[in-house]
Amino acid sequence: MPHLDRRSFTALTGLAALGGALGGSFGVNARRASATTATDPPAAPAPSRALRFAHFTDIHITPEHRAFDGTATALATVQAAGAEMILTGGDLVMDSFATKRAAVDAEWALFHKVFAEHCKVPVEHCFGNHDIFGWCKSKAGLDGTEPDYGYARAMSETKLASRWRSFDRNGWHFIVLSSVERDPHDECGYLAQINPEQRAWLEKDLAANPLPTVVVSHIPIVTVTPSIRGESSVKDQQTVISGGLVHLDAADIHKMFRKSGRVKLVLSGHTHLIDRCTADGITYACSGAVCGGWWKKNATYCDPCYALIDLKTDGSFDYEVRPTGWTIA
Ligand SMILES: [Fe+2]
Repeated sequence: MPHLDRRSFTALTGLAALGGALGGSFGVNARRASATTATDPPAAPAPSRALRFAHFTDIHITPEHRAFDGTATALATVQAAGAEMILTGGDLVMDSFATKRAAVDAEWALFHKVFAEHCKVPVEHCFGNHDIFGWCKSKAGLDGTEPDYGYARAMSETKLASRWRSFDRNGWHFIVLSSVERDPHDECGYLAQINPEQRAWLEKDLAANPLPTVVVSHIPIVTVTPSIRGESSVKDQQTVISGGLVHLDAADIHKMFRKSGRVKLVLSGHTHLIDRCTADGITYACSGAVCGGWWKKNATYCDPCYALIDLKTDGSFDYEVRPTGWTIA
């Protein structure tokens, strides 16, 4: 969502900075390169791959800007790369938050068509702010009593019974969070946080889980870019970042992740930028956007991209942001 004043960016805090807007790869538990001698014990075998999947965030499908062709190209690229699963990151459609029903219907129809015709691997969905139908009632033309108002529409379209959930795949645990809550002061705004019910569920889910874990949230829980790429401001000697851009409850959630000892990788979208940082052994990564800058040429945002992730049997992973192969004219 947000209109940020920056171009794609890759960073790694706590470690050395990484260069390059696209294609930077990052593996945890990478073994140190060193010369071997006759007395060295035999090298341990490399951990084998448990699952290769794509973090495919911020599709923003729309009848405009050739978004269907761009998404079809991206799906072909991801599958050619060997992804066995696609994990979306929210903002599946261009916008349903403040858009009239007829346009929203057209977006969801295209969304289903592109996946039906061009995707052969399992897909797991996460919701973003643009997938919430009509919270901005004045612009969407809704009164809030419609059965598909709010999250109900996206849940129905994706056949999901809950907007947050978890599942296991190939020896790894996946937690899908629902980042977007109402702004009590602005019906056309929203805040990034998990509500008390979701928080209680998360605490319980983490406590019961013995597997290495990937978390996906639409809005970043931790991100590097806001404070250095123009979306923050300084007021009274304090850096101020919008509560719609980064989770307001980041400290609380990170504390839960640390306590669990299982969370390895936390994936997000929302910013349409690429960044990455590691704190307390937990990697937080923003994987850009499949639509780049909303399918238009926009040097402020990333080019169309996705992240290819290899999860290993020993709990380590490799993460790499790659171009989708679609060039925006
Ligand atoms: Fe987005």
